[in-house]
Amino acid sequence: MYHPALFRGMNVVVTGGGRGIGLEVARQFLDCGARVVVHMGRAMPRDRPDFLDLATSEGRAFLHEADFLEAGSVDGLADEVRSRFDSLDVLVNNAGTMVGRFPAAELTDKEYRTILQLNQTSVVEMTRTMLPLLRKGPHPAIVNTVSISARTGGSAGSSIYSATKAFVATYSKALARELAPEGIRVNCVSPGTIATDFHQRYSTPEKLEATRKSIPLGRLGTADDCAPAYLFLASHALSGYITGQVLEVNGGQLIC
Ligand SMILES: NC(=O)c1ccc[n+]([C@@H]2O[C@H](COP(=O)([O-])OP(=O)(O)OC[C@H]3O[C@@H](n4cnc5c(N)ncnc54)[C@H](OP(=O)(O)O)[C@@H]3O)[C@@H](O)[C@H]2O)c1
Repeated sequence: MYHPALFRGMNVVVTGGGRGIGLEVARQFLDCGARVVVHMGRAMPRDRPDFLDLATSEGRAFLHEADFLEAGSVDGLADEVRSRFDSLDVLVNNAGTMVGRFPAAELTDKEYRTILQLNQTSVVEMTRTMLPLLRKGPHPAIVNTVSISARTGGSAGSSIYSATKAFVATYSKALARELAPEGIRVNCVSPGTIATDFHQRYSTPEKLEATRKSIPLGRLGTADDCAPAYLFLASHALSGYITGQVLEVNGGQLIC
């Protein structure tokens, strides 16, 4: 747990914050004093945690639902951010998912476009539209969620998803160089196999157990394991000389 005032007075946006890794990232930013626009995913979950409702009632959290597969959804989220904040300190582009496992020869055009739109294009669109607000912050930072699969290629049926994560990693490195003269840092967190709803949908228990056995630290990761890496990379005080990097959070699953 970082100092409770680490992000006091700072404005943060977290996409895909309705559950999983993004929810824990939003929680930890709120715990450290930030105001957070939390993109809750496609629909507002009915059973959202109390801390979000409390922070909303205190005017520190602003919840927004948006399906990034629908035209104009990123613009709608950006409008909400602009209506809440005059400047932006931290943008976390985290929303994303595998969508499904698609053998290469059977992948349809629609499935291909869906995976790209969600995991790749929405990150570019969100970054582009938030840059004017980020430029107004004193030490702005962008933190993008990528994946161990960007390095390894992922497992069967995840080729396009894995490639979108490699795109975001490379895009982030290029942006880091481009935006460094303005003092905007851009980094990525790359989770390994993290026990969230993600794997409930896309991996069997047997596959997860085999993965667990291959991880040097002997267990799957949790959202709790990942969130501090986002706060570290977002904080000028903690990582002000780090940009263009990918921080792997995977229990040693990938060591190279
Ligand atoms: N879990 C892992 O092992 C792992 C490993 C590497 C990378 N990652 C990445 O980490 C990020 C978070 O994943 P997670 O494990 O926390 O999974 P998760 O629990 O499934 O959360 C994914 C988030 O993305 C949102 N999302 C999905 N489809 C969307 C859409 N069409 N429009 C807008 N938002 C959408 C989800 O909202 P809904 O509630 O609407 O679905 C949810 O908030 C993702 O980018 C994922 O690719 C995860």
